[in-house]
Amino acid sequence: MRIGIIGGSGLYTLEGYDILDRRHIRRTPWGEPSADYIIAGKDGNEYVFLARHGHDHSIPPHKIPFKANIWGFRLLEVDRIFAISAVGAIDPNLEVGTVVIPDQLIDFTRTRGQISFYDGKFTPEGEFMHPAFGEDRVYKALTQKKVVHIDVSQPFCQQGRKYAYEVLSEKGLNVVPKGTYVAMEGPRLETSAEIRALRILGGDLVGMTAVPEAFLARELEICYTLITIITNKAAGISPTKLTTDEVLQVSSRMKQIIINSIPDIVSRLPEERDPVCSESLKGAIME
Ligand code: HPA
Repeated sequence: MRIGIIGGSGLYTLEGYDILDRRHIRRTPWGEPSADYIIAGKDGNEYVFLARHGHDHSIPPHKIPFKANIWGFRLLEVDRIFAISAVGAIDPNLEVGTVVIPDQLIDFTRTRGQISFYDGKFTPEGEFMHPAFGEDRVYKALTQKKVVHIDVSQPFCQQGRKYAYEVLSEKGLNVVPKGTYVAMEGPRLETSAEIRALRILGGDLVGMTAVPEAFLARELEICYTLITIITNKAAGISPTKLTTDEVLQVSSRMKQIIINSIPDIVSRLPEERDPVCSESLKGAIME
């Protein structure tokens, strides 16, 4: 099993793992990924780590090459991704330092031009053949320039969520097993009125990167589980001015325990992946 890990704000390396290799993927049909992929081993499995914002946090959320990043994981034969992200709490009951494993997603980005791999007749020409996967469903949909509508009723991997919740709770963290993540365009933070409106719409957490990341992984039939760290109360809920300092401080404090827990989560995953993720293209392609 090869597991992908995406590190968000405050998480740029894989400490505590045996680093085996670094892979620089220079070219994909969608440009260059955010950073080199770090290949690491732990407890008999292989992990592929990517710093979403670059190793030096030089890429803002609205400029992340999401398609290249997720395509790179496919090239490196990753079939399950655990992504770690800092978020603000819209739900006033959620305290800073809490970990939430969201089950739902609301998209308030402006799509960033990267919402889908499958651009129909506008799909770029490129090398879509995968040495190990051959002419699989992804390959066929891209080379035949298909229009694709994947089901995202459950946008996150249910298997990953279940075991992430179990293991992180056992480690003594304060973990909430579900919540609705609202993805905003950024890079600015929200106004207080926006947060009030998002609360009425059912949002619990706010961040800037789960869209299109989660949807793109689903489009390539890769499992995607999001582990969020509440780094601040959202605008208008926090009594103080929001700062990047608090975001980095809280996520840096929490990151290592989460990173160290991923092999335990992985050891509980069933061999067989959920077809909601592994066969997402079945019935999704306009023929
Ligand atoms: N808003 C948006 N994204 C965030 C926040 C926030 O308050 N905190 C961490 N990421």
